[in-house]
Formats: sequence, structure tokens, C-alpha cells
Amino acid sequence: MKKKLDKIAKDTNTFLKGFIKKQKKSELIKPMQYGLFSGGKKIRSKVLIDVGSLFNIKYKSLIIIGSAVECIHAYSLIHDDLPCMDNDTIRRGKPSTHVKFGESTAVLAGNSLLTMAFEILSHNELNISEKIKISLINKISEGSGHLGVAGGQYLDLSYEHKKVSKKKIIEMEIKKTGRLFSFCCMAPLIIKQKNKKEISKFKNIGADIGLLFQVADDLIDHRGDLSIAGKKTGKDKKKGKATLISLLGQKNTVKYADNLILKINNKIKVYGKKSKNLSETLNYILNRDK
Ligand code: IPE
Ligand code: IPE
Ligand code: MG
Ligand code: MG
Ligand code: MG
Repeated sequence: MKKKLDKIAKDTNTFLKGFIKKQKKSELIKPMQYGLFSGGKKIRSKVLIDVGSLFNIKYKSLIIIGSAVECIHAYSLIHDDLPCMDNDTIRRGKPSTHVKFGESTAVLAGNSLLTMAFEILSHNELNISEKIKISLINKISEGSGHLGVAGGQYLDLSYEHKKVSKKKIIEMEIKKTGRLFSFCCMAPLIIKQKNKKEISKFKNIGADIGLLFQVADDLIDHRGDLSIAGKKTGKDKKKGKATLISLLGQKNTVKYADNLILKINNKIKVYGKKSKNLSETLNYILNRDK
């Protein structure tokens, strides 16, 4: 698993480095590169590649689409760490982008990474039809805005120090984290021009994978270690974040995550042997320590 993930990270970084290199220089390039290349597991790309392999999509196309997703992810982390949001100074074992480059630069580098995702998806290096590209851009935009990442981040912050129901916590986690995973799970079906019902099935699988990912992240915050996680831990409790752990306790949250894996595996088992990679990724997501 680690080897596969490392290869995907390497191929994604190579594509992104090449893409940036072909552009004119600017002062924002450095903080953008810092947000993209200072580490990062590239797990969203792994999920995209796992689902892509169920539908025989070309690896190269998946790396390009994954690169776009990683740009949005990197932007969301830069903004997530800002003083007006989670106010975190360490990310991936290094100073957060705003600590290193200043707040206004971090905001603008984040914005530029968000728009770079759309540049990548509309670029002719991605060898798929324009109609499909528009459909991909439509879906990734939807998952990033007020009904997705941005909307979820809004809820995350507005729920601090409040008693929030399980349903609302899950909705928030699916928006802030799940929707990007939903896109990764939908993209291969969009390329294959599958029907709405099938696409929607994979949108839900992606939401559950993202939820699992965020629950695991919350568990790392709860019981993890700065030196391994690369970010300060124990901060969700200090900030009064509404998480399943704060509501149900650690033990029940682990149970909830185990059940999520069972639920997702049940949905993908129709793909037989081919679904093994995705199943492996699910176990990695829950059991990782960073
Ligand atoms: C952290 O994401 C933020 C969440 C959505 C929980 P990752 O754990 O994927 O961050 P990197 O890219 O690997 O550092
Ligand atoms: C971040 O969630 C989710 C995003 C969409 C960026 P967290 O705030 O829990 O992520 P970390 O723990 O800072 O990486
Ligand atoms: Mg946050
Ligand atoms: Mg945070
Ligand atoms: Mg966290």
C-alpha cells in the first residue's frame, strides 16, 4: 500500500511540477509549491485510481485529474490553517503556509491553487472530450463551493463549542471532506458516460469514504502524536470542535468507522477481485497514523 501510494504521489508531483514549470513565473508560485509539495499522502488520487481501475481508465488521465483534486485539497489546507480558521502553525511537520509566507500571500496562493484545478481539467494535456471535461469541471466545482468543501468548513467553524447532533456532524464532515472524495469516485464513471443512477451510487460511496477519512483524521487528532502526524494533536478538543468523538466517545467512533468500511465494501464487492485495491485503501485510511 505504502509503495503504491508513494508512486502515485511521485507521479502526481511530477505532473504538477511540469504543469507549473510551463507557466510564466510569479511571486505566488513559491507558496503554491509549498502547499503542494511539502508532503501530503495524495490519498484522494489513490482513491481515484482505485475506482478508475474498476472502469479501465488510463492511468495518465487519472494522474492529471488527481492532480487537479490535489490542488483543491492543498488550497483547502492552506486556508484551514489560517488564523481566522483553525489557526494552526504546523502542517506536515513544517510551518504552515501563512507562517512561512504571511497571511495575505497564503490566502492568494490558496485561491490560485483552487483555480489551477480548473486550468488543469480544461487543459489539452488531458486527453478526453470537451463535453466530459465540462462535466468533470461542473462536478468538482459543485463539490468545492458552498455545498461542498467551503460550506463544510463554514459549518465546522460555526459548530465550535456547540452541542451538535450526529446527523449534523456527519453532514458537515461529508461536505468539508467527503465531497472531494465523491468527485474522485464519480470521475471514472463520468468519463465512461455512465448513467445518473450509477454516478450517484459512486457519489455516495465517495461520501462514505470521505467521512471515513475525516473520522480517522479526528481519531488521529484525539490519540495521535505530533511527531508522526506532522500537525498538532489534541486541538479539536481545545477548540471545541463538534466531532463524532466529542459526541459518542472514541470507542463508539471506532465502531462507527468499522461499520462504514463494512458498508462500503458491501457496495463494491460486485466488482470482484478488481475491488481489492479500494478495500485495501479503506483499511489504510482508518488505520493510518498520519
Ligand atoms: C487532512 O488531509 C485534512 C483533512 C481533510 C482531514 P490529508 O490527511 O489528506 O492531508 P495530507 O495531504 O496527507 O497532508
Ligand atoms: C480539514 O479538516 C478539512 C478540510 C477541508 C481542509 P481538519 O481541520 O480536521 O484538518 P486538519 O486536522 O487541520 O488537517
Ligand atoms: Mg478545520
Ligand atoms: Mg484544521
Ligand atoms: Mg483534523
